[in-house]
Amino acid sequence: MELQDKVALVTGGAHRVGKAVALALAREGMHVVVHYGTSEAAARETVAEIKSLGVRALPVRADLRDPAQIQALFATVKAEFGRLDVLVNSAASFVRQPFDEIGLDDWKDVLQVNLRAPFLCTQHAARLMRAVVRPPDEPAAIINIADLSGIYPWRGYVQHGVSKAGLLHLTKVTAYELAPAIRVNAIVPGAVLPPPGVDPQGETWANLGARTPLGRTGHPDYVAQTAVFLARNDYITGAAIPVDGGEHLVGTLK
Ligand SMILES: NC(=O)c1ccc[n+]([C@@H]2O[C@H](COP(=O)([O-])OP(=O)(O)OC[C@H]3O[C@@H](n4cnc5c(N)ncnc54)[C@H](OP(=O)(O)O)[C@@H]3O)[C@@H](O)[C@H]2O)c1
Repeated sequence: MELQDKVALVTGGAHRVGKAVALALAREGMHVVVHYGTSEAAARETVAEIKSLGVRALPVRADLRDPAQIQALFATVKAEFGRLDVLVNSAASFVRQPFDEIGLDDWKDVLQVNLRAPFLCTQHAARLMRAVVRPPDEPAAIINIADLSGIYPWRGYVQHGVSKAGLLHLTKVTAYELAPAIRVNAIVPGAVLPPPGVDPQGETWANLGARTPLGRTGHPDYVAQTAVFLARNDYITGAAIPVDGGEHLVGTLK
C-alpha cells in the first residue's frame, strides 16, 4: 500500500514502542491517530512531533478495558479522518504476578487489554477499512504487537503469556476472515526497550541481550521499521515476524 496521505491508528502510541511506530508511519506520509490511556502529556508531545513532519495527528484517549470507549475511539477516527488504512495494536498491560496470587480481576484486566481490545479494535477497524474503495491489490493493514511469551512460557507472566498467545492466533484467524480486503500480521519483538524500572545501562538488560544469538538488545525503531514494511507489503498476511535478535531460536530467556 502506498502510505502517503493514508490514515493510521496506533494504540498505546503516546510513548515507547508505540510512539516509535507512530512516528515511523508519519515519516511515510501517514496521518496518525495517537491513542493513549493515561499518558496525555506524552500523547500531546508525540502528536506535536508528528505534526512537525507535515501530516495530521490527533491524540485520542480510551481505556481499552471498556468496549464503549473503544467504540468512541473509532467514532472519532471516522468523524475526524473519514477513513482508516492501518491499525497497529500496540497497547498492552505487562504484569508479572505469582501464579497463586492471580485473582479474577487480575486475569480479566490483562486479557481485556491484550486480547479483547485488539479483537474489538480489529472489528471496528475492519468496518472503517471496508467502507473505502481500494485497489484489490492494496488491502488495508492491521498489525498486532505480540511478544515471545505468547510462544514460550515466561515464569511469572501467566495471564500475559496467555493473552499474547491469543493475540498471535487472533492474527491468523482474522487474517483469514478479513482477506482479501484487509491483511493482518503480527510483530514479535524481543528485548527492544526495558520496562519502567529496569535500567537500560544496567546488567539485567545487558544480560538479556547477551543471551540472544545477535548478542545485544534491540531498539523500538527495529519494530517501527517492521511495521512500515508490513503496512507497505501487499502480499503478506497471517505472518508473525520476530524482531528479537534471534531470541526465538533459543527459546525462552526468562
Ligand atoms: N518493550 C519491549 O521490549 C517489548 C518487547 C516485546 C513486546 N513488546 C510489546 O510491544 C508493545 C509496546 O511495548 P512497550 O514496552 O512500549 O509497552 P508499554 O510501555 O507497557 O506501553 C503500553 C501502552 O499500553 C497502553 N495501555 C495499557 N493499558 C491500557 C488501557 N487499559 N487502556 C489504554 N491503554 C493502555 C499504555 O498507555 P498509557 O501510557 O497512555 O496509559 C501504554 O502506552 C506491547 O504490546 C508489548 O507487549 C514490547
